[in-house]
Amino acid sequence: MSYNGKFITFEGGEGCGKSTQCALLAGALQTLGAKVLQTREPGGTEGAERIRELLLNKEHSWDAETEALLMFAARRDHVEKKIKPSLAKGEIVLCDRYVDSSMAYQGYARGLGEIFVETLFTLTSAEVLPDLTILLDINPEEGLKRAKARSAKPDTFEGQSLAFHNQVREGFLELAKAESGRIITIDAADSVALVHSQIVEAVNRRFGLAAKPYETNPNAH
Ligand code: TYD
Repeated sequence: MSYNGKFITFEGGEGCGKSTQCALLAGALQTLGAKVLQTREPGGTEGAERIRELLLNKEHSWDAETEALLMFAARRDHVEKKIKPSLAKGEIVLCDRYVDSSMAYQGYARGLGEIFVETLFTLTSAEVLPDLTILLDINPEEGLKRAKARSAKPDTFEGQSLAFHNQVREGFLELAKAESGRIITIDAADSVALVHSQIVEAVNRRFGLAAKPYETNPNAH
């Protein structure tokens, strides 16, 4: 299925700065006059946000298969109700996590494997593939430190072992190697401004745009 819009996803381990970068890119693209939808997974619709609570709240525990099914249930709702309609209107959709997270977290780190995750994707949401994916790569020790600094109570995933998070990172890097045409990897240890300007450059190159880095506070210098 083809759409007029552009679908850009952000991926990476805990504390890599996706949400900040997603918001900055939205600002840069809106300055060009583009209509931008900023959204996230799991979540993005009322139903999917409810599923998110079930997934991230440590009061519930799921086996790996059920966790993956819930991720894809949330994704299906989000894709059908929000992402597809927005792309059909020609908007730019910026999504904080998408299917590569399912591959890295459920496929690699939880050990379900590529075929399990790919099959769910094919059955539910494969018509909507990102045009560009930005992978913010960070050493998990550093990322978890950042994540802890911002929330006192770790969620289901933040509370996993360092070995788990190292596997997530390896999973993402493998995906980036296998799909180098779609996924670009950026070192998330750099400053917010430097990471942002690299993202803007990648987006301009991919879509033939001329966006400028977004200045959050032009009077700051
Ligand atoms: P997120 O809100 O991005 O958390 P953070 O910003 O703290 O990294 O994502 C929620 C968690 O859900 C994150 O730990 C990764 C996990 N996740 C999966 O395991 N599989 C998936 O398919 C998605 C979309 C997220």
